[in-house]
Amino acid sequence: MRTTTTMKPEATTRDETGPQAATELVTALLGDPEIQADPYAAYRRMHAFGPAVTGPGGELVIIGYRLANAAVRDARLTKQVGQMLERMGYTDWRSRPSLRLFFTSLGHLNPPEHTRLRRVVSGAFTARRVAALRPAVERIVADALDRLSGGCCFVDEFAYPVPVTVIGELLGIPRADRPMFQTLVRDWTGVVNAQDPTTVDKADAAAVVIRDYLDDLAAQRRARPLDDLMSALVVPADGDSGLSAEEVTTMAGLLWAAGFETTTGLLSNGLVALLDNPDQADRLRTEPWLAESAVEELVRFDAPLQFLFARTAEEDMVVAGQPIAAGQRTMLVLGAANRDPGVFDEPDRLLLDRSGEPPMSFGGGMHYCLGAPLARLEAQIAFPALLRAFPKLSTTSPGTRRPGLALHGYIRLPIST
Ligand code: HEM
Repeated sequence: MRTTTTMKPEATTRDETGPQAATELVTALLGDPEIQADPYAAYRRMHAFGPAVTGPGGELVIIGYRLANAAVRDARLTKQVGQMLERMGYTDWRSRPSLRLFFTSLGHLNPPEHTRLRRVVSGAFTARRVAALRPAVERIVADALDRLSGGCCFVDEFAYPVPVTVIGELLGIPRADRPMFQTLVRDWTGVVNAQDPTTVDKADAAAVVIRDYLDDLAAQRRARPLDDLMSALVVPADGDSGLSAEEVTTMAGLLWAAGFETTTGLLSNGLVALLDNPDQADRLRTEPWLAESAVEELVRFDAPLQFLFARTAEEDMVVAGQPIAAGQRTMLVLGAANRDPGVFDEPDRLLLDRSGEPPMSFGGGMHYCLGAPLARLEAQIAFPALLRAFPKLSTTSPGTRRPGLALHGYIRLPIST
């Protein structure tokens, strides 16, 4: 199993149990690509220090499930993304296309802006609206399965095109234009995983193309609305969405990127987890009614978004027994919370019929993932269909992980069917 990789002896300290050792573990987690590819041994060691440890920059690194769950619901922890970027040296972040397009989007806003913008789009993603998409998603999965034969890259042929087609059709991105976004969105969302100058320069170039494309599409829909989400953003049924032109582009950019980048991660991480646990894959193949709990477990086991940053304490506060000082930043390690041994029995085992607490993978509170019902639906249809269509499916190499830790998935995963 990939989750048992031994950690490099990076954290040789005099006191393996003291706060310094904990901070060194966080430093390794944030800097070592090998640990980032498989962070679970590091998380296991971090859990020994309690629900939170202090990171190298003084931030509170939350790893316990109950604390993480309480923190995402506590309105006194607000998103302070501007401060974070300015501290990194991006005082001009609002004039950097990639940073502006990503960090002014819904996920990084506080009320009242957050409330106003979320209200505009939340109707499109209710459980009922998403359930109505089931036949369309089944057709998209079946088409992708038809193209999946022999040897190929699972990401290029399935994990990317399935969610891209779903969100592309919903949003109204013309089919012919979708392929170019695989690289563009990957480059743009590089800023989620790293904010070094090379990554940001590359992300800026991609963000300009994405932004201009979405601006044009919004203008076309304003002139001639269709039955898609982009039209609903620019010409809503009730007259006025109250969104400025830039807010439309930023919202569309977030929905477009969040609509597939994370789901691509769920499909590829989930496939690897299933192939590493053939007894569980067999169960899902023969007991398709397990699909709902299986997807919850797969999204827990190897979360596509491993951590959230930029929530900062507005005041001195105590959350689930944990003191947090006014102005202190937090980093919520969802992937570690999902493996909290105090909440999940045998947290490092994949058990598709696991019940109990839901995973932290979709966050919680006011920023709870808007697309969670859609991502779940796609995965609930895709995994049983894949396993049934290709009983001998296997990976032909370990594949290539996306660099960094926050967005956690594969960019290449060679398979044979
Ligand atoms: C497996 C797939 C997915 C995962 C793991 C995931 C994860 C998350 C998480 C953890 C958050 C909370 C961020 C925070 O609290 O700071 C979030 C927010 C969000 N997600 Fe997802 N997501 C997924 C799929 C999607 C899809 C398919 C869409 C769109 C169709 C989407 C749209 C959004 C949006 C718009 C937000 C911001 C919500 C807000 O701030 O109010 N996500 N997602």
